[in-house]
Amino acid sequence: MTDLNLEFNYPEFILPAINSNKHFVVVPAGRQVGKTYNFAQWIIRETMRLNCPSLWVDTVHTNIDKYIERYFKPLLRPISSYCDWNAQKKILKLPRGYIDFGSAQKPENLEGFNYKRAVLNEAGHILKKDSLWHNTIMPMIKAEDNQTRIIGTPKGQNLFYELFLRGLANDPEYESFQYTVYDSPYWSAKQIEDVRRKTPELIWKQEYMASFEAFAGMIYPDFKEEIHCKASPERKVTDIFFVSLDPGWEHPTACILAKEDLEGNLFVIDEFRESHLHVGDISRYLQSMLVRNGLKEEDIEMFIIDPSGRKTDQTSGQSILFQLQEEGWGFVPANNDLMPGISRVTRMIRENRLFIDKNRCPLLVEEIKNYHWKEFNDGSYGMNPTPYKIGDDLVDTVRYLCMARPDYFEHPKVNMYGQLEKEEEEEDVDINDTIDDMMSGDSLI
Ligand SMILES: Nc1ncnc2c1ncn2[C@@H]1O[C@H](COP(=O)(O)OP(=O)(O)OP(=O)(O)O)[C@@H](O)[C@H]1O
Ligand SMILES: [Mg+2]
Repeated sequence: MTDLNLEFNYPEFILPAINSNKHFVVVPAGRQVGKTYNFAQWIIRETMRLNCPSLWVDTVHTNIDKYIERYFKPLLRPISSYCDWNAQKKILKLPRGYIDFGSAQKPENLEGFNYKRAVLNEAGHILKKDSLWHNTIMPMIKAEDNQTRIIGTPKGQNLFYELFLRGLANDPEYESFQYTVYDSPYWSAKQIEDVRRKTPELIWKQEYMASFEAFAGMIYPDFKEEIHCKASPERKVTDIFFVSLDPGWEHPTACILAKEDLEGNLFVIDEFRESHLHVGDISRYLQSMLVRNGLKEEDIEMFIIDPSGRKTDQTSGQSILFQLQEEGWGFVPANNDLMPGISRVTRMIRENRLFIDKNRCPLLVEEIKNYHWKEFNDGSYGMNPTPYKIGDDLVDTVRYLCMARPDYFEHPKVNMYGQLEKEEEEEDVDINDTIDDMMSGDSLI
């Protein structure tokens, strides 16, 4: 018979997790550190060594074919004529032993055998529901001579986390190993630095540092209703006001009214969010929002609008910004830099300087609590995380507000008697006078 010895190559860092003799070995690891490849090697080695049935569990069925092509076939190439992949039944026959493949997506196909070796890939996903582990997988791997490797990038604090903790505690059946991108030879320092720079903090910790974060998908995890929902204090003469608007059509038009006190705290005090508003409607909504808050247009320090409001509207041939200006609203385009904006809002929340009146702005509170990063099919957030684009209308106006609110807005001043100090009267300059001057040649001396 031909030599059936395969050469296995493991990176040094992963050897303790590969060679452990514990029943359950739990391996949370960052993206692309080498989990799948190396535990594919392990299960091939073990299956052939023991001439036994083994089990590989993944998230979805389509991933199985992908892994066979990408990892198993190349690894088995030297002995490919002694192997057989049955794509229908999802069984990989090796010269000694075989591996059954199944997915959390079709647990009904996963049943029956006493497997000696098992790998649960992407455990963060497949252990989202406890029942798969307790009812389906456990009966197949509970024998004392079984060894199971539970590998994946963490996805919040689910059962994967619990099993990881068991391995850290003194449970004799469990052992845990945690690997970050810094441990893996497949990541260069430069690649790590690049991804770290553009990845939001919690996603970075979860996806690359393999940490079990409770709110990794949330964009504003620091927002706490008990702290940040509060009615705004009574109006003071030193308060200044802002309106922030994100116009839309199907995607609704959203608008908030906020006030800033002398200490730099921002209070969102009113909102509206409505689809299919024409400019005239927006104008009326703005007017009534001011009226119900006892404000006049000149009380508003700044009207801020999504900069795409500058784009020309197909039907009217004019931009929304221009049309609103025509209606007498002096809007200025906001700064729409996403990540700096999110950081700024985050800072305001962390420093407890952003508050929302929940009774008057229930829609914004709902949006801010649900605002999350878009998750891709493979469960990652991609190389450039972006917010999930539904239900983000009012939260965007908060971002524009915080970006438009540098720390130098002048508040009205009061004297030692609490009276409003008179501002120096600015001389009214009539643009027509200037033009007249120019025409008459007076200014050309
Ligand atoms: N022992 C090895 N020898 C050679 N290349 C390896 C080895 N282990 C991993 N790699 C390479 O490193 C890369 C990442 O490996 P792998 O896909 O196993 O990582 P992962 O942690 O499962 O990633 P993901 O988070 O995407 O699931 C792959 O390109 C793979 O070929
Ligand atoms: Mg993988």
